[in-house]
Amino acid sequence: MTDSTPPCRLVVLISGRGSNMQAIAEHIEQAGLNGRIQAVIANKADASGLQWARQHGLDTQVVAHREFATREAFDQALARVIDRYQPDYVLLAGFMRILTTDFVQHYAGKLVNIHPSLLPSFPGLNTHQQAIDAGVQFHGCSVHFVTPVLDHGPIIAQSLVPVLQGDDAQELARRVLATEHQVYTQAVQWLVQGRVSLRDDGRVQVDGVAQRGFYFPA
Ligand code: GRF
Repeated sequence: MTDSTPPCRLVVLISGRGSNMQAIAEHIEQAGLNGRIQAVIANKADASGLQWARQHGLDTQVVAHREFATREAFDQALARVIDRYQPDYVLLAGFMRILTTDFVQHYAGKLVNIHPSLLPSFPGLNTHQQAIDAGVQFHGCSVHFVTPVLDHGPIIAQSLVPVLQGDDAQELARRVLATEHQVYTQAVQWLVQGRVSLRDDGRVQVDGVAQRGFYFPA
């Protein structure tokens, strides 16, 4: 018997190589999830992840931020393109743009991001160098719902990665990225399965999952 539930509709936003997008697309396929990437949208025509997406039969779009005079105008144009696909979730996967409050509110409860740090520590850029400079012994990544505050919002899942003596930002980024792929795909699996909800206290609940932190020893 086939599952007649319509697939969970996903739109993925990228700015660059899109390795998280690839991991998500491959996981949906390999795990046979009832989800579909309706479109991959980039804010730069030369985002290399677009090529991979096209080669794998995914619909791609470019909304070039440089063509818009204001952040508001760009976000409105982006939302118009996204909304054509009627997504259940919009997944930010290395999408390097600060989004306006109006945009974030338009997708309240549907907009998910991955950030390469253990939020609420180290929002913003250069998170791996920030972690090394702070001398923290653990670093990682966070998959979270997006709020109007940059790199902030209810946490769906996190990875925990030890910082090793002698790590530089590049090496630490390499190890964290490998965990991003695993944690983001796990979070997408929960979303597609309809198990993720936001509680009244603003925290995330995933039905049947008590622990959403994943330790990756070096
Ligand atoms: C990832 O580390 C992501 O967390 C950060 O930018 C990087 C994007 O990598 N925001 P990719 O484009 O998914 O390969």
